[in-house]
Amino acid sequence: MKTIRKKRFWASCFCFMAAFFLLITFQVIVELGKSEQLTTKNSVSQNDASKEDEFQKYPSLFFKKPKPDHNTEKKFNEDRYPILLWWSPLTGESGRRAQCGLDACFFTINRTYQHNPMTKAFLFYGTDFSIDNLPLPRADYHDWALFHEESPKNNYKLFQAPAITLFNHTATFSRHSHLPLTTQYLESIEALKSLKYTVSLPKKNSLRKRLAPLAYIQSDCDPPSDRDSYVKELMAHIEIDSYGACLHNRDLPEHLQNPASMDSDSFHKILAQYKFVLAFENAVCEDYITEKLWRPLKLGVVPIYYGSPTIQDWLPSNKSAILITEFSHPKDLAQYIKALDADDKEYVAYLEWKLKGDISNKQLLAVIKERTWGVQDIMKDNYIDAFECMVCTRVWENIRRQAKGMLPRRWKAEANHLSCPRPQAFAFSPLSVQRTVLQEVWRSSFDQSKREAHALQQLVERNRNFTALEFWTLVFRE
Ligand SMILES: *[C@@H]1O[C@H](CO)[C@@H](O)[C@H](O)[C@H]1NC(C)=O
Ligand SMILES: *[C@@H]1O[C@H](CO)[C@@H](O)[C@H](O)[C@H]1NC(C)=O
Ligand SMILES: *[C@@H]1O[C@H](CO)[C@@H](O)[C@H](O)[C@H]1NC(C)=O
Ligand SMILES: *[C@@H]1O[C@H](CO)[C@@H](O)[C@H](O)[C@H]1NC(C)=O
Repeated sequence: MKTIRKKRFWASCFCFMAAFFLLITFQVIVELGKSEQLTTKNSVSQNDASKEDEFQKYPSLFFKKPKPDHNTEKKFNEDRYPILLWWSPLTGESGRRAQCGLDACFFTINRTYQHNPMTKAFLFYGTDFSIDNLPLPRADYHDWALFHEESPKNNYKLFQAPAITLFNHTATFSRHSHLPLTTQYLESIEALKSLKYTVSLPKKNSLRKRLAPLAYIQSDCDPPSDRDSYVKELMAHIEIDSYGACLHNRDLPEHLQNPASMDSDSFHKILAQYKFVLAFENAVCEDYITEKLWRPLKLGVVPIYYGSPTIQDWLPSNKSAILITEFSHPKDLAQYIKALDADDKEYVAYLEWKLKGDISNKQLLAVIKERTWGVQDIMKDNYIDAFECMVCTRVWENIRRQAKGMLPRRWKAEANHLSCPRPQAFAFSPLSVQRTVLQEVWRSSFDQSKREAHALQQLVERNRNFTALEFWTLVFRE
């Protein structure tokens, strides 16, 4: 009797705790849902409203080669070609046979193909990857492939080892991925070498009467990289013209305030007048490099860079950018910029590669030459086509191997195909410990994403479909 009562007590206790957890979970789900919606909305509107951060979100998509939609072929396609099912509306294609070299595959976003025996792979787009309705159970011959070119700001959990290793094939900004997209924001070597916008040094020197030595243009404020804290401190030591919404202190001409103009000739001309431009990524991840770096290099302006820790592997030459990580304090960086500003010879050394058209980085040259996709290049496949074809080719390889009685070739994403360290905040003095709310949000969102990735892995490996409630319960149980 006693033990039963005891058990009852513990049971009710447990019940209470469970209910409490569920309540919290729901709260969190609702909050997360809200903030997720917000961030998606934000990133979309920001993209429209201030293209400077990840401007050209789908550069290649906009230049998609027209492809015939072979509707009539559909009937027999289904039995003759492997079906690669996009678990994302990204391409919007109801069904298309695509030729990849000698192989052809059928690509569709139509989920009724989920259980079709010819469906060999599921293609996911990172930004809209959701735990809802994953294609489970996953058959042994169901490859999962992830296309994710964006910053970890979008869908942190995929950047955690338990989540990324669920995939067989990857296309990400990392050089380690199966289809590296590291140079996705650089259209060509010619664009880097071009002198079209380059302003001569005497002109830049005379413009210094009304312009600061360096410019900052950012409208996505307080991202995980904490760049605005750095720039704010830097501003205390050197004059900066800040045109974007973040730390704004100077207006662009009226006709350029429309964000679409980030790409325009007149905007480029304004930037090109500067000696330096702050090129700070929104996140600090190996190989995550955006137009923020390439734009100043193209314009003949020296980028002051913060972002990928391996940036040296991608710069056109050893003396083409200034890395803030080489200075212990913004004050020292400011001093260095001032010295360069006063010394033409030293400054021009950073542009020598451009003026001579000499790109000494062999790896950069090789990667651009060998990549199978183009950027804004109608003569080449875009990177989504290239991704689709990579998976198609691999699926066919295994079909052939099996036809010959061989074991299929195995593919698995490694943790380094998509990874980013925990966001760090700058701390210049013991006094600056108080952090912005946003910094705390990024960090806790990163920490939470670890738990989400673990839960996701467990549920996917269980290999049964699951509800969002099951998922969140697991996330908060751990
Ligand atoms: C999806 O495919 C099924 C079977 O081929 C077809 O009946 C249905 O109309 C398709 N749905 C869409 C939205 O294309
Ligand atoms: C940069 O310098 C290092 C060491 O001096 C050298 O090994 C490397 O090849 C240089 N890289 C480029 C791009 O010139
Ligand atoms: C794809 O990944 C899953 C899970 O890791 C694995 O079971 C399967 O064998 C892989 N497929 C291939 C073709 O490597
Ligand atoms: C799992 O899939 C089955 C069959 O499609 C469906 O009836 C069931 O409701 C799903 N369960 C969950 C938890 O989504």
